[in-house]
Amino acid sequence: MKAAARARSAVKSGVKRLLGRAGFDIVRSTTPQGGVDDFIPFEATMRAARAAGLPVGDYIDEAMNGTPGATRSTIDELRALGVFAAAPDTVLEIGPGSGRYLEKTLKECSPSRYEIYETAAPWANYLVDTFGVVAQPVTGFSLDATADDSVDLVQAHKVFNTLTFLGTCRYFFEMARVTRPGGRIVFDVMTEGCLDPAAMRAWARQGGAGHDSFPAALPRRTCVDLFADLGCDLEGSFLAPLGVASTEVLVFRKTA
Ligand SMILES: C[S@@+](CC[C@H](N)C(=O)[O-])C[C@H]1O[C@@H](n2cnc3c(N)ncnc32)[C@H](O)[C@@H]1O
Repeated sequence: MKAAARARSAVKSGVKRLLGRAGFDIVRSTTPQGGVDDFIPFEATMRAARAAGLPVGDYIDEAMNGTPGATRSTIDELRALGVFAAAPDTVLEIGPGSGRYLEKTLKECSPSRYEIYETAAPWANYLVDTFGVVAQPVTGFSLDATADDSVDLVQAHKVFNTLTFLGTCRYFFEMARVTRPGGRIVFDVMTEGCLDPAAMRAWARQGGAGHDSFPAALPRRTCVDLFADLGCDLEGSFLAPLGVASTEVLVFRKTA
């Protein structure tokens, strides 16, 4: 191999390793929407999870991200905040990917309808086949196929650190639109609470190679004020692991 090719290959595998820790790898989704629109490869990930003897979600937490139990602990926090107590009958998830949160959500409640908006077609198909969810078409950060005030729980995990500001902004309005009064909205963003000097240093040294848009940050206050303006009150929040540092999970209840 020539030196330039070797260097290219080394950079490529370094990028893959870093993105792998955040739950990414290099596979292009069918409908690029801006931001990090690649997701881990379906076949290879499933094969590796099988070889490790782990459910795919646990494999991603443990082997790829090095954060065993991370999904479980977020679901436990959501339960403690009462998110599942109201027995949501309709759930919508943006960017479920491998379905690691979806699978655990379905252990907490039994919705009659679970819609997903996911750009990575192999994963969307797998989730439809495995869990009987409904995959909706992804078009320009909208939830067009979902009616106003129709969903009990709208969630997105580790998605808004990967989209551009505009994509996230547009999805926020849509999440508030489709949630029924009394319903919950759950998502994480990398807020100022996740960005102390040590975290900044870790991201600067080890983060994000090859993807300028990951991880994207957003002020907590901006999210809280926007959702308040859309009739949604903040009920609780907590930190969860993201890459080399953390992300903040926010839980809103739509009141009007
Ligand atoms: C970092 S992954 C997180 C996946 C999953 N929520 C998890 O935590 O394991 C981001 C996910 O968002 C999906 N995605 C990217 N752009 C999207 C868009 N515009 N609309 C919906 N999903 C999108 C990706 O395919 C991927 O599944």
